[in-house]
Amino acid sequence: MTIDAPPKPSISPYKHYVLLCTGPRCGEEGAGQALYDSLWTKLKAAGIHEGPGRTKFNSVNCFGACKGGPVLCVQPQGTWYYNVTPTNLDRIIAEHLVGDQAVPDLVFHQSPQVDVPAQRGSGG
Ligand code: FES
Repeated sequence: MTIDAPPKPSISPYKHYVLLCTGPRCGEEGAGQALYDSLWTKLKAAGIHEGPGRTKFNSVNCFGACKGGPVLCVQPQGTWYYNVTPTNLDRIIAEHLVGDQAVPDLVFHQSPQVDVPAQRGSGG
């Protein structure tokens, strides 16, 4: 007996994926949400809301790393930033998301790079 798998989801190509904590223990109350609310406009102004530099983003309720927030993670590099003020968010966008260089003084953790083997027959 064969069980049919559900259709695979699809996702449009992107270069970076930003996850930003909007949780209540991350910096001043509402700071993460205010950053999140500004993100689309900032990405658009930097020209990385679409095209080859496209940056996806989502909010997260808590990463379990609440000191020194707001906290932001850039994937696929697994680079974790703290103290993400509006000015520091501008630096992360300009230096990391556009310039492909992490901002060392704002990084509190760097995940190891992991190679993911290509799937056969993924169909795209
Ligand atoms: S509330 Fe932001 S990491 Fe916990």
